[in-house]
Amino acid sequence: MHIMGREEAEAARRVIESKQLFRYRGGEGGETDQFEAEWAQYIGTAHALAVTSGTAALTCALVGIGIGPGDEVIVPAYTWIATPMAVLAAGGIPILAEVDDSLRLDPADAESKITRRTKAIIPVHMCGLPCNMDAILALARQHGLLVVEDACQADGGSYKGRRLGSLGLAGAHSFNQFKVITCGEGGAVVTSDQRVYERALIHHDVGAAFREHAEPLAEPVFAGLNFRMNEILSAVLRVQLTRLPGLLDTLRAQKRTMMDALKDEPAFTFNPGHDPEGDCASVLPLLFENASFARGFIRGMQDEGIDVGSPIDSGRHVYSNWGPILEKRGAHHPAIDPFNRCGYVVAYARDMCPRTLEYLARTVYVDTRIDRAPAELTELIHAIQRVARRKLSGTAK
Ligand SMILES: Cc1ncc(COP(=O)(O)O)c(C=O)c1O
Repeated sequence: MHIMGREEAEAARRVIESKQLFRYRGGEGGETDQFEAEWAQYIGTAHALAVTSGTAALTCALVGIGIGPGDEVIVPAYTWIATPMAVLAAGGIPILAEVDDSLRLDPADAESKITRRTKAIIPVHMCGLPCNMDAILALARQHGLLVVEDACQADGGSYKGRRLGSLGLAGAHSFNQFKVITCGEGGAVVTSDQRVYERALIHHDVGAAFREHAEPLAEPVFAGLNFRMNEILSAVLRVQLTRLPGLLDTLRAQKRTMMDALKDEPAFTFNPGHDPEGDCASVLPLLFENASFARGFIRGMQDEGIDVGSPIDSGRHVYSNWGPILEKRGAHHPAIDPFNRCGYVVAYARDMCPRTLEYLARTVYVDTRIDRAPAELTELIHAIQRVARRKLSGTAK
């Protein structure tokens, strides 16, 4: 979906020619520091920490908030497997909760999953669609839970005027190739909490004890890992950030055009949104009465030469395909596996979130595309109408 052009190539060339590719040891004040300042300002947090991936960002955020052995973290049953994996990487136990018809975390089901061990909750803004953050933040307040937003698919999205990632205690963004903006692989932790930031900073750099910034840190340096961003990718991201507002405007306008044209179609409704203004508009989700209707619609569109798909077929975004989680292989060695260390038996099953499976199977995603010409958009809308009406008259018989 992203745009990648001459400006990114020029930014990368500039860094390569400077021979300063490392963010520290001469790179201080360079591309990574500047990207972090720009990203923090754009998201509206006191801090941003650039890292090597969204998974690294989630892991550093969870380490940052203090997740450890025995802590339960509620995650939705529909997300990329990186979300529960990051919980395990931090030593916690991912607890799966249903999504509702908005395809995002159902606050009521999340509440039913809270135990005395629950420490945090991760709302995931899937496909750039903002979660019901009012309900989730209220739930967290009521039960004393920490909130980490997984905004990996939602770079630049917002909820009621606040950028996604800035509403919880910490947030995580991804810049891998399939995200709104990209540098191939990359991510960022965002937070306004000094302690969370310092802990994430320490965890992301095995050399944290030796950096110039180690001196003023209030948090004692502990053993971390290496998720440091490099100057070439940060330079590319700085260009990408300048493209982000225009890119979102285009996608949102395209989605609005589709919604205006399709809003009265009787064959489907739109999955409810929690803030259409803040949606990144990567997809238009259509909700059908049942899974076979959705399946028939997909086949009909394919007959028209148009590729649309159901999120139920999106593989590892669906919890029932999360082998390492369901089979509780939580680490590379049994002695450090959070499932073995938590002191009780965690139970998962392929059918444990039936409403999630139902809503996913009833939904069809129509993608927005940055390079879609107006005539192509009109043809797409007409094709959706033709196929949906044909299916409807077919079932009515
Ligand atoms: C919802 C979600 N969370 C986390 C991630 C992890 O991001 P990355 O691939 O950059 O590690 C992704 C990436 O696909 C994602 O979609």
